[in-house]
Amino acid sequence: KNSLKDRAAAKGLIYGAAAVKDYLVSNTNLKTSFVRECNMLVPDYQLKWDSIRPHPKKFDFTKSDWLAQFARRHGMFFRGHTLVWHQALPVWFKEVVNRKNAESLLLEHITTVTKHYGGKIHSWDVVNEAIEIDDGRTDGLRKTPWLEFLGADYIELAFRTAAACDPKAMLVYNDYGLEYDGYQDGAKRTAVLKLLERLKSRGTPIHALGMQSHLMGHIPGFNAKKLRSFLADVASLGLKILITELDVVDQELTSDPIARDRIIAGLYEDYLNIVLDERAVIAVLTWGLSDKYTWVSSFYPRSDKSPVRPLPLDSNMKYKLAWNAMARAFDHA
Ligand code: G3I
Repeated sequence: KNSLKDRAAAKGLIYGAAAVKDYLVSNTNLKTSFVRECNMLVPDYQLKWDSIRPHPKKFDFTKSDWLAQFARRHGMFFRGHTLVWHQALPVWFKEVVNRKNAESLLLEHITTVTKHYGGKIHSWDVVNEAIEIDDGRTDGLRKTPWLEFLGADYIELAFRTAAACDPKAMLVYNDYGLEYDGYQDGAKRTAVLKLLERLKSRGTPIHALGMQSHLMGHIPGFNAKKLRSFLADVASLGLKILITELDVVDQELTSDPIARDRIIAGLYEDYLNIVLDERAVIAVLTWGLSDKYTWVSSFYPRSDKSPVRPLPLDSNMKYKLAWNAMARAFDHA
């Protein structure tokens, strides 16, 4: 009963991680560790538009199907990421998409993809990162091509389309920067809550909030009181909560790896101890399993050029203090 998935399951929770087909195929040690530790798999990028839609009229599910089958073969849940986002759009998108065809392209995407995986998906990140306070709108919506071409109702449309195509999937709104009340002075939390309230008040089929939870190592701690009340506000809308992309960006932390691991483990434990107190939280996924494969190394490289250490296993798949921290947090839940 040592793995993270077992300790999570003992408390009725799911633990999983993001995966890339190429890495699971090429690294047996990673594959073994993933199967041991994880009860859910989410594709890191191989289920995004640029991966599955090489041409406006062509879908390529080769890699995402491999990941879905890998999950099924190992008795894991499979979660979909993501149907509507302003990033990871294919190179043809800019030339092809306009006001006239945007809606049909979006509906065709959601319909084709959710039907392709119909009944096999635990949950879909239907819309990802649709709130951006700095874009200056009173509703806080990010100025994406979807908003430009379809108006603010694109979000409700996306959820209704997904629900119609796969009534079994849990439908999730996913976003980042909700972990800290200091982030944009809590304005993003407020805007996300208002979006969720608006969607619920219109009867939109939305079932959960995904909190990406990319923790910033240089932010020392959490305002537990405000974080708890945000979680409670989300739960009071009748929504579940998933921690969808947990890791720690350690760019500004000490170069001493032991000291750094301690700080990172502390953030994992502090954060999980708070969020796991909220019964609406049903799953925790880290955005990768091993430091060898993390987006942080290319997106937040360290000035000392030392390898980043954001995840529960190190590059050789050995347990890190973060692993122990997560195990304790699950046991404590
Ligand atoms: O596309 C190449 C592919 O051809 C090649 O075979 C493969 C192996 O080298 O690399 C691929 O390159 C890039 C890949 O990262 C490498 O890991 C992809 O082009 C690039 O799109 C991808 O970036 C991903 C990014 O989202 C955009 O999709 C990151 O892996 C992924 O961690 C990051 O994840 C996002 C979440 O979806 C949303 N929340 C924030 C999070 C971090 O930015």
